[in-house]
Amino acid sequence: MGSVRWGFRCGSWTPSRSEWLFAARCVQQEEKDRIGQFVFAKDAKSAMVTTGSDPPWSFNISHQGDYAVLAAQQGMQVGVDVMKTTLPGSNSIPEFFRIMTRQFTAHEWSTIQSAGSERQQLAAFYRHWTLKESFIKAIGTGLGFNLQRAEFHLSPELLTQGKVLRQTKMHLDEEPDDLWIFEESLLDVDHHVAVALGPADEAGSAPLPPPAAFTLLSFGELIASASPLTEEDAAYWDSFRMKAEAPQRQKDT
Ligand SMILES: CC(C)(COP(=O)(O)OP(=O)(O)OC[C@H]1O[C@@H](n2cnc3c(N)ncnc32)[C@H](O)[C@@H]1OP(=O)(O)O)[C@@H](O)C(=O)NCCC(=O)NCCS
Repeated sequence: MGSVRWGFRCGSWTPSRSEWLFAARCVQQEEKDRIGQFVFAKDAKSAMVTTGSDPPWSFNISHQGDYAVLAAQQGMQVGVDVMKTTLPGSNSIPEFFRIMTRQFTAHEWSTIQSAGSERQQLAAFYRHWTLKESFIKAIGTGLGFNLQRAEFHLSPELLTQGKVLRQTKMHLDEEPDDLWIFEESLLDVDHHVAVALGPADEAGSAPLPPPAAFTLLSFGELIASASPLTEEDAAYWDSFRMKAEAPQRQKDT
């Protein structure tokens, strides 16, 4: 049973004309049109590198902060979520937590608020956030799911770079769940990623391989096996290079 964990640092990718035009040739025309309509370059870049897939695998993608990630697994449901662990907007941490009260259970808030310094509390907050989102994405329900139903019991071990933790457990509807597995890791000091792995419909019995760390790909590696579908379109580059990287507010944080 295979698994793939790929990350791409689109935040620091400054595509050359030839890279951008080649990537544009490797996506379907309707995707190319959708990506071309993004106002900001950061959104166009993350959409470009997460378009395309390998149908026999169950996979999910996430893009936030400086990264785009893909997790794929054979024979299991999979969901992935990456989050930059910085404070969004200009709120203080207590105010930010207050706005988010309903996203987490009393047990989860108690774990977050006893994590130590405000920075450590924020890290614990995003651990819960990515875990919850990875589960929601694996089951595919989106906004229709009551977030209080899935409660996470974090492994006491701190996340460190280069390590993948699989000890965190989920309680579903107040019952400990033994079927789902969660892998947590750091892409760098301030990007958390969680992968949720769930039982496949056909109850696959193959053993799960050991947890795999995310491999960070270069643009060359990302595009290595891509095949162009359309002709080069020079105007697509002219349009891309006129885009601002991100809204001013995001560039300041
Ligand atoms: C729809 C939702 C799953 C998208 O996630 P996100 O964090 O905004 O964005 P991510 O970058 O992680 O994932 C986006 C990708 O997930 C995939 N995706 C979209 N909807 C999905 C769904 N319902 N289930 C699984 N994957 C989905 C798509 O490939 C999408 O890529 P695209 O934007 O390029 O099309 C999510 O926002 C959502 O509905 N959450 C509700 C729960 C909530 O409020 N959580 C708060 C934190 S606990």
